[in-house]
Amino acid sequence: MPIVVRPATADELAHAEEMVARSINDLTVRHGFGPIATSRPSDFQAFCHRDDPRGVWLAEDDGGEIVGFAMSWVCDRLWFLAELFVAPGRQGEGIGNELLARTVQHASEAGATEKSLITFAFNLVSQGLYVRQGLLPRVPIYLCRAERESLGPAHGPTLSATPFRMASVDFEILRQLDLATLGVSREKHHRYLLGDPTMKGVFLEEGGQRVGYAYIAATGHVGPLAVTHAHGMPGAIRAALAVAVSGDAKQISVFVPGTSEALATAASQGMRFALPMVLMSTRECGNWTRYLPRNPGFM
Ligand SMILES: CC(C)(COP(=O)(O)OP(=O)(O)OC[C@H]1O[C@@H](n2cnc3c(N)ncnc32)[C@H](O)[C@@H]1OP(=O)(O)O)[C@@H](O)C(=O)NCCC(=O)NCCS
Repeated sequence: MPIVVRPATADELAHAEEMVARSINDLTVRHGFGPIATSRPSDFQAFCHRDDPRGVWLAEDDGGEIVGFAMSWVCDRLWFLAELFVAPGRQGEGIGNELLARTVQHASEAGATEKSLITFAFNLVSQGLYVRQGLLPRVPIYLCRAERESLGPAHGPTLSATPFRMASVDFEILRQLDLATLGVSREKHHRYLLGDPTMKGVFLEEGGQRVGYAYIAATGHVGPLAVTHAHGMPGAIRAALAVAVSGDAKQISVFVPGTSEALATAASQGMRFALPMVLMSTRECGNWTRYLPRNPGFM
């Protein structure tokens, strides 16, 4: 059946995300992790589409069914592939390759010189595709999870967490913290997160200085989190987990790079590793000892 690959429109994003959830669950069930995706709102996809529709593509079969979806965003010189999914039953037919080629074009159109993404560590197909585009596996990342009630006490120093004052968030400090950890500004993404009333943002402070930030969702999910010095990471994750524990979420979760000392801190507080992911990039980019991504799409 002929497949058409074309730019996605805003009103197709919710439907595309249903296919994405099916594709994720098909993959994770096949690899013994069980279904992990639930149908979720396409708010971030809609935001990225409004911001720069050049990165949002879909593949459609001749019956009008969405059989593939890809989305990339760009911040300064960084191009990030947020999603690339092909419907179960339509994989291995070249659709992923086609979609990837379109989103990679977005990088050159936007003048991005570095490419990066986070994919499932157990998916050899996706990694094979990305390696051929020059993105190599660099950093293991673990989804860590615990029941809120069973999260153990924090041992060791904790940074102080001061909630953002929503009326006057200091975007210049956030920009500097991102430049220090990731090398690019993510101001538009902070504005996106701050527009979500279920999201709490805090500055992480040491000796009265703002040395990092963290976001904690009402769902109990922590991230993104950034801190200027790697030695501050254990104290930073302890602080963010404490904010999450003070809420009413049933579960606490966070994505932690294997290069960050935060992983040992999370494990020592009783968090279990639920899903292995891997960061792939064209070169070493960002400092993954000092940054916890929000999820594989937002980074
Ligand atoms: C990953 C995914 C998007 C790829 O799309 P697809 O349409 O199945 O892929 P294509 O048919 O275009 O290409 C598959 C390529 O994988 C490569 N590949 C397959 N198995 C491989 C392996 N074991 N090692 C290396 N490369 C491999 C092949 O090179 C093949 O290309 P070829 O046909 O030119 O030889 C799709 O399989 C999918 O949705 N998987 C589940 C969700 C997922 O993991 N998404 C990625 C999230 S970042």
